[in-house]
Amino acid sequence: MKIAVLPGDGIGTEIVAEAVKVLKVLDLPLEMETALVGGCAYEAHGHPLPESTLKLAMASDAVLFGAVGDWKYDKLDRPLRPEQAILGLRKNMGLFANFRPAICYEQLVDASSLKPELIAGLDILIIRELTGDIYFGQPRGRRIATDGHFPGAEEAFDTMRYSRPEIERIAHVAFQAAQKRSKRVTSVDKNNVLETSQLWKDVMVEIGQQYPDVALDHMLVDNAAMQLVKAPKKFDVLVTGNMFGDILSDEASMLTGSIGMLPSASLNSKGQGLYEPSHGSAPDIAGKGIANPLATILSAAMMLRFSLNQEAAAQRIEAAVQKVLEQGLRTGDIYSEGTTKVSTVQMGDAVVKAL
Ligand code: IPM
Ligand code: MG
Repeated sequence: MKIAVLPGDGIGTEIVAEAVKVLKVLDLPLEMETALVGGCAYEAHGHPLPESTLKLAMASDAVLFGAVGDWKYDKLDRPLRPEQAILGLRKNMGLFANFRPAICYEQLVDASSLKPELIAGLDILIIRELTGDIYFGQPRGRRIATDGHFPGAEEAFDTMRYSRPEIERIAHVAFQAAQKRSKRVTSVDKNNVLETSQLWKDVMVEIGQQYPDVALDHMLVDNAAMQLVKAPKKFDVLVTGNMFGDILSDEASMLTGSIGMLPSASLNSKGQGLYEPSHGSAPDIAGKGIANPLATILSAAMMLRFSLNQEAAAQRIEAAVQKVLEQGLRTGDIYSEGTTKVSTVQMGDAVVKAL
């Protein structure tokens, strides 16, 4: 089982190191190879997604990814910015199905900004389409400069675009995921304004007919944003496009108390996957040893489950994470009075010990 390990920038290196540590004690035949991605790859090779990194990722069963980005790259031309690395990996590997669970751990109910009764027991699965929409629209976004000088551009555009097959395949993913859960799908769009959303909704209804055991309802994205903070437990599987999914998954993650707890999986049709924490590179706390490695450790568990067919090992990791939470160990982001504050490395060590 070959894993490409791409730690990236900021806290990426610190949290991925802990996940690798956890994987190593599992006693599985895992072959891990590390490569540069994001801003650090730009500095070493002049490109955020060097050919060698892409090749390694494509030749692996799974990619364990940290995070990319830093404010210091904000002035680079867009194709050279660190974020292009993750977009390039998604597009080149065809990772169209993004799973972003938002689960509220019982021990962390008080870490949320919402009232405990609203989020206790919360377990939502956001399924975000990941290789279409305004992120990859044709014609590609550009700024129109009147004098050839982009910072002074007078106009800019991006194109929102979806094709029927792109929506069909993510619809199947959502309905099949719902079959394994509580058999409900909420499809989120903006069909009162956007043509892409009308197509999205039509195709969802059509594919839904192939899954008579799953109940489908539709919600406009602005309303969904509101319902997520009003009554989040009403959702089960929420499926949506790339842009809306980006925004709603950040919102949903915060319901659980900390974005530092949430893993994600991005899958293609061959079962290859990229696994990363839902959070970013957090340059403000990078190098301080205080980042929460649990989202990355839980992403490694998802990797074992979805791409490496190692369900038992995945469950062992998830149980170990539960255990360290029960022991009261907390990194700063999930710390509350009466618990024990630990560093990134101490948290990783505790998970290893629990295993
Ligand atoms: C995410 C991130 C990325 C996205 C960025 C880093 C390009 O916000 O994975 O949600 O917008 O998809
Ligand atoms: Mg995002």
